[in-house]
Parts: sequence; structure tokens; C-alpha cells
Amino acid sequence: MPTAFTRVLGSGFVVGEHCVKNETLSKICDTSDEWIRERTGIEQRYFVEEGVTTSDLGVRAARKALEDAKVAPEEIDYIVFATMTPDYYFPGCGGLLQTKLGLSNVPALDIRQQCSGFIYGLQVCDALLRAGVAKRILFVGAEVHTGFMPWSKQAFDLITGKAEGVLPKEEHDFNTKFRDRTSLFGDAAGALVLGPTDNPERGLLGFVLHSDGSKAESLYVASAGFAYRPYVGGDTHIREARYVPAMDGRTVYKMAVSKMPEAVHEVCQKVGVTVEEINMLIAHQANLRINEAVQKSLKLPDERVYNNIQRYGNTTAATIPIAYDECRKSGKVKVGDLVCFVGLGAGFHWGAALMRE
Ligand code: ACO
Repeated sequence: MPTAFTRVLGSGFVVGEHCVKNETLSKICDTSDEWIRERTGIEQRYFVEEGVTTSDLGVRAARKALEDAKVAPEEIDYIVFATMTPDYYFPGCGGLLQTKLGLSNVPALDIRQQCSGFIYGLQVCDALLRAGVAKRILFVGAEVHTGFMPWSKQAFDLITGKAEGVLPKEEHDFNTKFRDRTSLFGDAAGALVLGPTDNPERGLLGFVLHSDGSKAESLYVASAGFAYRPYVGGDTHIREARYVPAMDGRTVYKMAVSKMPEAVHEVCQKVGVTVEEINMLIAHQANLRINEAVQKSLKLPDERVYNNIQRYGNTTAATIPIAYDECRKSGKVKVGDLVCFVGLGAGFHWGAALMRE
């Protein structure tokens, strides 16, 4: 078995300020708790207060992970930040987080691999540590998805309990056009502090990563790209809400249920373990039905798979670090356990990682 080099020294996470239940979303579009729960497993999600950004959530999660690791911010010598909802188009969130943590000059790298951002970023962290480039890496996955919800202030006020009433019918109908996507996502951040291990039997053991750019338009933001002049797409961009990701849900679903089990088999083979040896599978949380299909395909019992999408929705780059933090702190993952991370996201990019806790 390959020897480990990188260990998780600490973890932490935060969510947005407002918990929004499925039935609350039906105030602003035509949806129901029953539909969302049955098709996705989601029961609620958290949204930030307007003005709270991805780097704000990231720094809150980072502080928790640093405290857990008993590492002072000044000891961090590299920052890796995964997000698909950065505060600005550029520069990325890594540098913003660095400043908010009171650090300067520490390199800060952004990863933009959407829902597989955690797996891709983790491999980068492992490689940096193995190469001796860094000794204490702060790795953050954070998202503020509310920025792409095509909702008015009144709609946000209704779902966050700041106002009462009903939306005009036209606005309600407009919001309904996006319900397949707006019901999926939540705002949150997860963070890890990573460093070299003193025990080569504990830590990250191996990765497999893949990409298929030919299906990029199965899940993408149609406008707001430098393929357009101007890049925000002018009036059409706003009128047609092209800032909301366009998604072919069925294609994403089919890719996820086939590629995630494949990646798990591949990483197990690479590391020299069997799938049955996995003590905890922590998959990206995009849809509970996807994860149930992955579990079935891998023939893993319920106690060896962890899902929390019911409580948070899809938080993209944050899902895996949040689930891992909950497993660590609740004792669901114990020292010596074989943990497998797996994810697939827009791009498409996907992969899996194995770690001995
Ligand atoms: N509430 C009520 N009805 C809805 C909702 C909703 N929230 N969303 C869609 N519907 C309706 C549709 O309008 C459609 O109605 P129609 O038949 O009258 O036209 C009907 O339900 C079926 O819609 P489908 O889109 O075919 O539903 P499907 O069963 O495919 O489920 C879903 C949609 C949940 C999005 C599913 O395709 C899925 O989870 N796909 C994977 C998506 C995913 O993982 N995305 C994130 C990837 S992560 C990343 O990289 C960002």
C-alpha cells in the first residue's frame, strides 16, 4: 500500500444565517416539500444574509478548522480555495481569505472544479506537501449560491421571514422556470488544515481524477463569460436570467451514477484495497438519489455511507469537507478507518480519494 504523507490536522464548517425549508420555497415558486424531498432528499438549506460573500463564509470555516487543528493562522504557509461562486469574477477568493485572516504574502491558489473542487484541491494540497513546498495548508471549499437565484428582494424577504405576503403572479411564474436548480443549492463553507503526517499509515493514500470537457454545456452558466461582448451579456443576460446555471439534470444524474462508482473502484485498485474495506464513503452531496444509486452499485451497507444533503442541500465545493467534519466529530470516522471521498461536478470533472484516518 502507498505510504501516506498528508494528514488532516483539523476541520470545521459554517452555513448561511437563514435556514429555508422546502415548503418555504413554495411561497416564491411552484414547488412542494414532497417534490423536492422525493426527487432529491433535500429538506432544507441555508442562505446567507445579503452581502455575506463566499470568502466571508470561508474565513469563518477556516477559523474553526485552525482552532480544531490548534494551528495559528501565522503558521499557514499556503492557501487553497475551491469555489464556483467567487466574490468577484476575478481575483479569486484565496487572496481575499488570506487578507481576512490577517495574513500577507502567503501564496493563495483558487480551484474552480465546481462539485469536484474538493477532490481536485485535496490532490493539489497533497502534492504541495509531498513536494515540500508547504508545511501547513489551509484548504477551503465555500459557496454563496444565492447570488445566482433570480429572485427579487421581496422574494428573499418572504423566504427569510422578513416579510409576509405573496409575489405578483408573473414573478412567481418566472421563478418557477428555475425551480429544478434553485431548490438544490445552499450556502456554506468547509475547511481543512493539512500537514505532513508523522505516521505513514495515517493520511491520504491516493487519488484518481478525470475530466470530460465535451459535456461542459450540460451544466454551465450560459452568459457572464468572456466568450461574449460585453461578457455579462447585456439586457438579455438579465431578462433571461442567464446567470442562473443552465442544467441538463438527467445528463448530470446519469454521469454521476456511473462515474462515481467507477472512480471508487479505480482508486481502490490503485491503492491496493478492496471496496469492501472502505469504512466510510463520503460522496459529494448533489442528490440523495444519486448517492443511493452509487451506494447500491458499490454494495456498501448504510453505516458505511454518510449523507447530509437533507440538512444543507448541495453546497458544491463545501459538501465533502462538511460531511467529513461531521463524521470526524461525531465519531462516525475513527482512527484507522479507511475513508473514501468521491465527487462529480460541472465540467465534467470527477474523481475519488482514499485516506486512512
Ligand atoms: N418542484 C416541483 N417540480 C419540479 C421541480 C421542483 N423543484 N423541479 C423540476 N420540477 C418539475 C419539472 O418542471 C418537470 O415538470 P414537467 O414534467 O411538467 O415539465 C418535472 O418536475 C420533471 O422534471 P425533471 O427535470 O425531468 O426532473 P428529474 O426527475 O430529472 O429531477 C433533478 C430533476 C432533481 C434536478 C435531477 O435531474 C437531478 O438531481 N439531476 C442531477 C443534478 C445535479 O446533481 N446537479 C448538481 C451538479 S453539481 C455541480 O457541479 C454544480
